[in-house]
Amino acid sequence: MISKKMVEALNDQINAELYSAYLYLSMEAYFESKNLTGFAKWMRAQTQEEVVHAMKIYDFVNERGGRVALKAIEQPPTEWKSPLAAFEAAYKHEQLVTGLINNLVNLAVAEKDHATNSFLQWFVDEQVEEETSVDNVVQNLKMAQDAPGALFMLDRELGQRVFTPPPAQGE
Ligand code: FEO
Repeated sequence: MISKKMVEALNDQINAELYSAYLYLSMEAYFESKNLTGFAKWMRAQTQEEVVHAMKIYDFVNERGGRVALKAIEQPPTEWKSPLAAFEAAYKHEQLVTGLINNLVNLAVAEKDHATNSFLQWFVDEQVEEETSVDNVVQNLKMAQDAPGALFMLDRELGQRVFTPPPAQGE
């Protein structure tokens, strides 16, 4: 049986993942306004991934007999001073999310909730990927700053990203 405290913490994480989706959707709108459609497409895929993260936790809480309770999603920023500033903010946000996941694991361990701990390991691994992929773009943008045409090339490259929906349960 999952504890009330664990369910509350997972509900908070559903909110954090949905905020992440909201933040990246706002970044997509920012890139659209700058005609950087490749960056915008990358952010759309990132938004969709965050919704998948939220739904994974949503389904897990239900499976364990907990009660999902949705909360208000905070308003994200709408402007950044440059593409680099936006991606630096995304990187900082992913580091924050990693900290939240680590706190959840700590709680699951403290509660001897092995099922939740096991479930959360997917997120532990995912955060390594999330931080790396955003940091790669940050590094590329830093290099692109002094090279004319590099931003255009990077925009084309990021536009290749395709969101792959997870397989339906039971497949
Ligand atoms: Fe759901 Fe980007 O962490």
